[in-house]
Amino acid sequence: MSNPILSLQGIARDFHDGIQVRRVIQKTDLDIYPGEFTIIAGPSGSGKTTLMTLMGLILRPSEGTVYIRDIKASGCSETKMAKLRQQNYGFVFQLSELLPALSVMENIVVASGIQGSSVTGDIKKKALDLLKDFNLLDCLHLRPLQLSGGQKQRVAIVRALVNDPVLLLCDEPTSALDAESSQIVLDSLKQLSKDKTRGLIMVTHDPRVFPYADRMIKIEDGIIVYDSLISKEQKAL
Ligand SMILES: Nc1ncnc2c1ncn2[C@@H]1O[C@H](COP(=O)(O)OP(=O)(O)OP(=O)(O)O)[C@@H](O)[C@H]1O
Ligand SMILES: [Mg+2]
Repeated sequence: MSNPILSLQGIARDFHDGIQVRRVIQKTDLDIYPGEFTIIAGPSGSGKTTLMTLMGLILRPSEGTVYIRDIKASGCSETKMAKLRQQNYGFVFQLSELLPALSVMENIVVASGIQGSSVTGDIKKKALDLLKDFNLLDCLHLRPLQLSGGQKQRVAIVRALVNDPVLLLCDEPTSALDAESSQIVLDSLKQLSKDKTRGLIMVTHDPRVFPYADRMIKIEDGIIVYDSLISKEQKAL
């Protein structure tokens, strides 16, 4: 088996709730491999978003170490963490959080965070290829207000992919969408999950997503209570 893209080793996270310190993620070991589409499910408040932000180097663990492609991320400076995020991750959140004053193309290019005309040219080309894959070429010059929920969410996915991340982290990307838009976003993500060079991790309550995944992790009260690969036979059910 290849090396994990992401390795959580003994990580835990505490929060102060104003009165006391509460352990929201209990000591956890977890490896994520390239080519895996992993779902993280669990009740509200169980720690899914916290786990995902720890995986995404957005939040620091109170204990333990996060390795991204064998690089030890815990203990790095903020600048180094930001660099590791930019080089390795794409994020898609529940609400697509596009900048309203910018067009679709501008939203994507700005997010790439790369300056300079030649590089911007490369990013634009990459963005165009992705917009085509996600059936968004007609929306290129529109602003977020002119898009449907499903289109916005697909733009957010393109934006997350433009830097070629090795890990795409999605937190409830379909929960704010109606059934039809959700289906379109899921079909786009399904295409993506066929790419064996990157990992896709999605927090979701949405059972419509489950058949697409390769691995299911369930979390309750900050503890991983279930972690299993989903066989082809199970997917067909
Ligand atoms: N910044 C914070 N400060 C204090 N407590 C927090 C903070 N963030 C999360 N928590 C607490 O940690 C627990 C887990 O929260 P988290 O957002 O990870 O849950 P979740 O599984 O994503 O829930 P949901 O399905 O509702 O999004 C909750 O009890 C929450 O109140
Ligand atoms: Mg959450």
